[in-house]
Parts: sequence; C-alpha cells; structure tokens
Amino acid sequence: MKTLILTSMMAMIALASAPKHVYVTVGSDAVSNSQKSLSSIKKLAATEEVTVLKVREDELVKLSKLMHDKHNRCGGFVFHESLEEAQSFLNVKANAQKNFAPVNYTITEGPRVEAMVSMTQEINIRTTIEKLSAFNNRYYQAQTGVDSQAFVKKTWQDLAANRTDVKVEYFEHSSWKQPSVVMTIEGSDAPNEIVVIGGHADSIAGWWGRERARAPGADDNASGIATITEIIRIAMDMGYKPKRTVKFMAYAAEEVGLRGSKEIAQAHKRAGMNVVGVVQFDMTNHKGTDDLDIVFMTDFTNDAQTKFMGKLIDEYVKVPWGYSKCGYGCSDHASWHSAGYPAAMPFESTMGDINGHIHTARDTISQSNDDAVHAEKFAKLGVAFLVEMGK
Ligand code: BES
Ligand code: ZN
Repeated sequence: MKTLILTSMMAMIALASAPKHVYVTVGSDAVSNSQKSLSSIKKLAATEEVTVLKVREDELVKLSKLMHDKHNRCGGFVFHESLEEAQSFLNVKANAQKNFAPVNYTITEGPRVEAMVSMTQEINIRTTIEKLSAFNNRYYQAQTGVDSQAFVKKTWQDLAANRTDVKVEYFEHSSWKQPSVVMTIEGSDAPNEIVVIGGHADSIAGWWGRERARAPGADDNASGIATITEIIRIAMDMGYKPKRTVKFMAYAAEEVGLRGSKEIAQAHKRAGMNVVGVVQFDMTNHKGTDDLDIVFMTDFTNDAQTKFMGKLIDEYVKVPWGYSKCGYGCSDHASWHSAGYPAAMPFESTMGDINGHIHTARDTISQSNDDAVHAEKFAKLGVAFLVEMGK
C-alpha cells in the first residue's frame, strides 16, 4: 500500500514537473537553423512554405530570439494550442473561403465615399498614436496592456455616444490578462454578413522582463489602432449605417504569436459566421519606400480582395501602391486567412524597407517626423473599404 501511494505520488510529481510542449508554425526556410539550436524541437509536418514544430514551452523565447537574429523576423512563429490547429495553418490556400459564396466586389458608392474620405484629419491620428505610446508598454501580460485596452474601449465608446445600434465590448482571453476590444455596428439588410477592420493593440520590446520593458510601439501598432479610430470617428460623425454588420477590432497578444486574433477568428469559424472581408492595419505610419505609399502583402491574404483594395486606392486615395511579401504569417490577417476567411494587409512599405525600430524603445512617432501624414492615407483607404464593403 505504502509503495503504491509512493509510486502514484512520484508519478504525480513527474507529471506536474514534465516540461510543457506547445505547437508553433514557422516559415520552412527557418527550420534547419531552429533544429540546430533548440534541443527540444521536433518537426511534425511541413509544406514548402510552412512547417509545424513541437517545442518545449520554456524554449519559446530562445526560438523567438533565433528568428530575430538569424532570420530578421520579429517573433517569427505562430503559437498554437493544439496540433490540429497548427495543421490548419499548413494548407491555408486550400482552407481559404471554401464555405461561403464568393464576394461580389464592386465600386458603387462614389459620392458618399468621396465625402467621407475627405474628412480624415492627420492631427486626430497623431494624437491617438501619442496617447497609446505614452503607456509604458501594451504588453499582453502587463497591467499597462490592460489599461491601454480600457483606453481604446473608452475612446471608441465616446465616439459612439449617441448611437444605440453600436456596441463596444471586451473579448476576454482565458490564458492572459489583456482583452481584445470589439466595436460592432449591426447591419440593416444583411446582418449575418460581417466586415472586419482590425489591428493589434499590444506592443513588445526586449527579451527578458517584458512586463516592465518600455515598448512605445508607435508604428507597431499604435499607428494601426489610430488609423482605425479615425475611420470610426468619421463613420460616427456621418451617422453611417451599414447594410452588412461591421466589426472594428483591437486585438490582444499579436506580438506573441497572433494569439488574440486566432481566438477571435476561430470563434467566428466555430459559430459558422460569414465573414465576407477582413482588413488588417498593422504599421501604417512609417514611409519606408520612396515610390510606394501602400504595399499589399501577398501571402496569407486573399488575392481578389487585395486587388479590389488596389482599385479602391486608385478611385479614392490616388497614391502609388504595390505588392510585397512577409514570408510567414506576420500579423493577424493570417489568423483570419487560416480560418478560411478573405483577408488583406495593406502595409506601410515593402518588406525590404521595413522600419528598423519596431520592438524597441525607439519605436516612437519621432521616427515619423512627429506626424501621421503616412497613416492618413491608410485611414482614407479604410473609409473606402468600410463603405464599399459595408455599403
Ligand atoms: N507588425 C509586425 C509584423 C511585420 C513586421 C510585418 C515587419 C511586416 C514587416 C507584427 O506585429 C509582428 O511583429 N509580428 C511577428 C509575428 C508574430 C507571429 C509573432 C513577427 O513579425 O515576427
Ligand atoms: Zn510587431
């Protein structure tokens, strides 16, 4: 009896202290380097582009640092709760959009969109960037990352103060303390068709003590949240009432593996919701490429929606635009894409010209002339997308 108790106690201790393994996906080009420097890594499945790895949770920081040093990627991997979910990231092209009727992309709202596009104000975007970067950081496990989301929620609520058909809510995540924020305008004709305009609200810097590290994240991604906030302001000022349901989202925990948006996108998928279009604003205020203002990422995105957004720029924003590639699921659009929904990612520069200050204490608006001139172009595109998709 005694030995039985002892053995089961020992088994329990072994279980409790067994290192936890998690699943991540990385760009396949980064696998051999990862295998060389991490002892716990195991390759489980792969395509030419993406590989599923099993790795000890306590080696994630090391993996992240390797991606940064050797592959010039910031975090460099997408975090998954289960193997099944990791595998769904592999065949993203096959997953994409199989469940719903194709979206009809047409430009029909000329004068209405022109009026709204002309309303953007650079000073509003600048001010929001400054307020968001004043939080010490917006890290997903820091109290300041919770406080910054309270600020986003209140800002959006105040903009919608005289609207009873608009709600602003937290989307709580069970594994960390920072919530996402979601603003919903219920559609009048097709409420089951959903248009999503989102960006990540968290910031990150350094490798250790990230809860306390200064991470202003002005470009990455206060700029995206400020862009979205200006789109909301114009929609509310104009009394805009969409036919489809529109949801504005400020995602938590993007910088640690797209975790907030993944929970949200998967929740939409599980509920069988018809998301007809998603746009991701992540980094909009650093003009890195001389001859291009808006650059669409062509991986983990939907080609038809991307092309449509190019047309929206020609029609309403009239700035030069082009294409580039992240090479991996670099932001929250990948969460939606992998859940089978069409997404696009208009970005501030080509990948070759990226802002080198992100994820450091130097990511401040002073790197962008202390103005939001570049981000304003994205707010105009966002307004056009809002009305032509939401109608
Ligand atoms: N804003 C960046 C993504 C980005 C950086 C896109 C540079 C294009 C150029 C984003 O917040 C980020 O840092 N993403 C992580 C990936 C994520 C899965 C942890 C990254 O790039 O490593
Ligand atoms: Zn980042």
